This record gives sequence, structure tokens and C-alpha cells, in this order.
Amino acid sequence: MISFYKHNLNKNKNYLNKTISGQYLTSGPMCEKVESLLKKKFSKKFAYLTNSWTNAAIAILLALKIKKGDEIIIPACTFVACANVIEMIGGKVIFADIDAKTKLMDINDCLNKITNKTKVIMPVHLYGNLFPTFKLKKKIRKNIFIIEDSAHAFSGEYNNKPLGFYSDFLIFSFYATKSITCGEGGAVLSNNKKTMEKIRSIANNGMSKPAFKRFENNKYKPWDVESFGFKANLSDINACLLKDQILGYKKLSNKKKKIYFKLKKKLSNLKQIEFPSNLRNNDRDFYLFPIGVNRKIRNRLIEHLTSKKIFVTVNFKSITNLSFYKKKYKVKNCLNSIKWGEETLSLPFHAKIKEKEINTIYKEINFFFKNQIY
Ligand SMILES: Cc1ncc(COP(=O)(O)O)c(C=O)c1O
Repeated sequence: MISFYKHNLNKNKNYLNKTISGQYLTSGPMCEKVESLLKKKFSKKFAYLTNSWTNAAIAILLALKIKKGDEIIIPACTFVACANVIEMIGGKVIFADIDAKTKLMDINDCLNKITNKTKVIMPVHLYGNLFPTFKLKKKIRKNIFIIEDSAHAFSGEYNNKPLGFYSDFLIFSFYATKSITCGEGGAVLSNNKKTMEKIRSIANNGMSKPAFKRFENNKYKPWDVESFGFKANLSDINACLLKDQILGYKKLSNKKKKIYFKLKKKLSNLKQIEFPSNLRNNDRDFYLFPIGVNRKIRNRLIEHLTSKKIFVTVNFKSITNLSFYKKKYKVKNCLNSIKWGEETLSLPFHAKIKEKEINTIYKEINFFFKNQIY
């Protein structure tokens, strides 16, 4: 069996020791420690850990006071959470097509879809390939916020500037299959003090102080609720899994990069396969290993690999073609996104993958095309 994903936590290490020896199991000193690591790594003034990317995004949109009819542009080919968070707060999803080569949001299509109702643009660093936010930033009104979806990238630079440099908010996911994980988790980073204070409060039921900050120096500090909120904070139990992974990320990311190019080199022999292309001037991350094949045979290839116990998945079908969004928005003009959503499949890809497994993946895909098992 070749697993699609393997996490990098060390089963012999007691990550929880420090946390369960202390008194805060929920958001406390461990979350603060991890937040300061994130601030340092991405040169941002503020960081806040949440229990998912999804809830971090909802908290940001609520803090920005996005209301009914406000428009938010996202790429059509990404994970459905990007559209769901907009629906959750009553905004209108505007789908931009993806670029045929990079599979990242097409900047020109995005610019064409900006109206006077556009409040936010949410590009995605799909598969770890960095979206060129600096190009978008130069061309849009100052009062449009950019929220970078960095669920797939935890490192990378454009023009020597770190990930998140050109955006207002950067959101990570620490979901089970992400390069860094604590089972479920997320983080939002920004330099916007006022909005980050609102996000902290909204993500903690609107309270002005988390439990951790209510008993400083043995004194009770009163708290209030100035606007409503919900529950999106991360616990120290989850956060304690993140510290070592953040500190060791460079090593992991270099390892994944080498594996990526090893597998890509082998598969490049097969003319039936397409790879999303990389942008120049970008130092990118490598999260998934997507390939594209003719849409007529894509599902047969998935079946063939699965029958050989090589586990693959689809990242992603165009959101415009998912029943709810198809019915509600009736988008017909995101053709690259629809095409890629029907052509793509993601191969097993993680830091523990063995040379032998890489060879097997290649052998089975080669066999599939050579013997025309479709
Ligand atoms: C591109 C993208 N954005 C957002 C999310 C949502 O992350 P979470 O599960 O932490 O809410 C995911 C999760 O897979 C994702 O792939």
C-alpha cells in the first residue's frame, strides 16, 4: 500500500508533557509561544491560532464587517471552504477562473470581475505554488482587502519578500493532511492591530479577554462583550504539536522539494501527463503532487492506481460545478477551472515516501498508458 499522506509527528516524543503539567489546556502559554514563532517566521506583527482555517476566515470576514451583497473574489478551482466561509457570513462569491498553466487564480479574470461591491480578494497558494500577490496588489483599489489562503504553503518568497508580505491577512491550515498539522487547526497573521484584536475577540465568543488573561498577577481582570462572536480558538493541547514542526519546517520542505522533483523527473517521460507550471521569481513550497491527464480517462487512472493500492485523490473539482454552487451561481465562464477539475488527480506525496514507492507509482502509471487500460 502506498499512503497518500503521512504526518511527521514523532510517536516517541511526549509533545503534551509541558502542557498537561501546567494549568491551561485551552488557549494559553503554548498558543502564545507558537504565535510568537509564527510572527517571527513571517515577519508579521500579530498572529492568532484558531481551530481551523475555515473558522479563521469566518472571524476575519466578520471583523471586516462583510455584509449581505458584498462581493468576495476567489479562484474557482480550490477547496470548497473558500466559498463556504463567504456564504456563511452572507457575502456573494465571485469566481475567477484559473490560469491554464499555473492553475493559480488568473489575475486578469480577477481584475475584470472587480466591481464597486468588491470588498475582499482571496487568492490561494494552490499546491504550495505561490500566487503573485504583489502583481494583484499594484492593480487594485486600496480599500479592497487581500486575504491570502496559505492552507497549502508554509514557506516561500516572492522577490525576496516572505509569504504574506503583500496581503492584509494570511491564513494557514493545520488540518490532518497539511504539511504541518495538529489534527485540526489554523492561524491568521496580519499587521492590522485593530482588526486582529477584533478577530481575537470574535473567535472567543466576543469576549474582550480569554480565560488565560483574566487572572494576571493573581488579580481578576473583568471582561465584557462588545459584539457577538463564536468559538474558534485553538487549545494548548493542539498547539503543543505545532512548535517542533514550525522550527523544523525548512528541513521538511527541502526534503519534500527533492522528492517532488524526483517523481516529476520520472513522470516527465510520459507525454500524456501535465504538471502545473511554476512561476518565475518565486521560491515556492511543495504540498501536493497534482498531475493532469485527459479528462476522458482520468477516473480510469484513479481506479487503476487504487486497485494497486496507490492512494490518490482529486484536488479540486471546480467549485462552480459542485451542486450547491452550480445551482445558486450558475457560473459558466470558468472554463480552465472546470477543465482542470476534470483532468487532475493528486498522487501520494509526503516526506516519508520511499524510492521504491516512487518507482512503483511511475511503473503503474506507465503501465496504464502503455497498455491503454481505458
Ligand atoms: C486551499 C484550502 N483552503 C482552505 C482549507 C480549509 O482548511 P481547514 O480544514 O483548516 O478549515 C483547505 C483544507 O483542506 C484548503 O485546502
